[in-house]
Amino acid sequence: MGCHTGAGSNITNAIPMPAQTPTTPATDSRTHRSAFITGITGQDGSYLTEHLLAQGYTVHGLVRRASMFNRSRIDKIRARQEYPADQLVLHYGDLSDLTSVRRLLRQISPREVYHLAGQSHVGLSFEIPEVTCHEIGMATLGLLEALRDLDYPVRFYHAASSEIFGSPVVSPQTENSPFNPVNPYGCAKAFATQLCRVYRRAYGIFSCSGIAYNHESPRRGENFVTRKITLGATRIRHGRQAVLHLGNLEAKRDWGYAPEYVVAMWRMLQLESPEDFVLATGRACSIREFVAAAFAENGLELAFEGRGVEEIARRKDTGEVVVKVDSRYFRPIESSELVGDASLARKSLGWAPQTIGTDVASLMARAESEQVRLEQAG
Ligand code: GDD
Repeated sequence: MGCHTGAGSNITNAIPMPAQTPTTPATDSRTHRSAFITGITGQDGSYLTEHLLAQGYTVHGLVRRASMFNRSRIDKIRARQEYPADQLVLHYGDLSDLTSVRRLLRQISPREVYHLAGQSHVGLSFEIPEVTCHEIGMATLGLLEALRDLDYPVRFYHAASSEIFGSPVVSPQTENSPFNPVNPYGCAKAFATQLCRVYRRAYGIFSCSGIAYNHESPRRGENFVTRKITLGATRIRHGRQAVLHLGNLEAKRDWGYAPEYVVAMWRMLQLESPEDFVLATGRACSIREFVAAAFAENGLELAFEGRGVEEIARRKDTGEVVVKVDSRYFRPIESSELVGDASLARKSLGWAPQTIGTDVASLMARAESEQVRLEQAG
């Protein structure tokens, strides 16, 4: 653990003392705004970092060695040099190595902890269920235990997911809807969400879960369907790809815009008392509609034909097939149409999503085009 400045790395030495030296931080972060983020290199981690830096926080992020080559989002924030280097500090570490995480928490004494880390791909959770459950379930438990032992109060945000509802018995879902996950990822998130409730009640820990529905952005990983679609549509427009292969086009998701969601995460930790919140737009749109919007933003109108694995989409102008369904991307069980009711967030956090469904598709497609323009400009 501790902090290393490796060759080619711009992770700074977070604490100017040997890694094993305990306790007193150089500045007492209990007296000013400081946050610790697990999963800082991810989409949400990077937007949350920007939000917190803009609020004057010192942000500490946990980075796995394995993320060395997957840090582009957070590295770009650092490269902009808008903030002093010591306002954003990255620490090598791993939630499976909890002793060192405990030590780190003691050293930096954050006022707020945002726990965003963990295997986040639902489809992949069927391939690697044990890793998924360890990274989500046991890591959250370990963090809660670590917080329980601290001698100062910390506010804890847990990134829960709509996948805890899986095949929901009510629609739209609220904070009180019963859990009914249908994949290992959802099971692990349900476990972690319930633990946050238990630790809140049993030990008075300020722990709360944001039950977030899908939230996307140009920083989304390419293995999630929205980014795969917007990237594919742009590549097809520029002749860099012939066909986009997708799984279930019937699935519907409640899609919002990630930068708006991190604001709600932060507001949750500013409340008087901890509470769970559904973070959602309240509207669902299908993968097919998202595809159509992303291609339309690229000036390509599509005509869909066929059903199930036979479904294709052709360009209306040339008749070329540009989208095909590929059963390799189907999941053993598909979560039902998940739609969230964020009334409580609206009331208590003053939060309401602005960018919804196909607007997100258009925004992401425009960002891909801008990226191509920048590449072409050299
Ligand atoms: N990934 C992927 N790739 N999904 C596809 C594809 C494909 O080629 N084709 C169709 N889909 C469908 C999936 O079957 C699913 O119904 C839907 O597209 C969305 O898939 P993902 O983008 O992988 O997201 P997710 O809904 O499973 O999970 C995301 O949202 C959750 C709720 O916020 C992830 O971000 C989770 O970590 C998050 O908890």
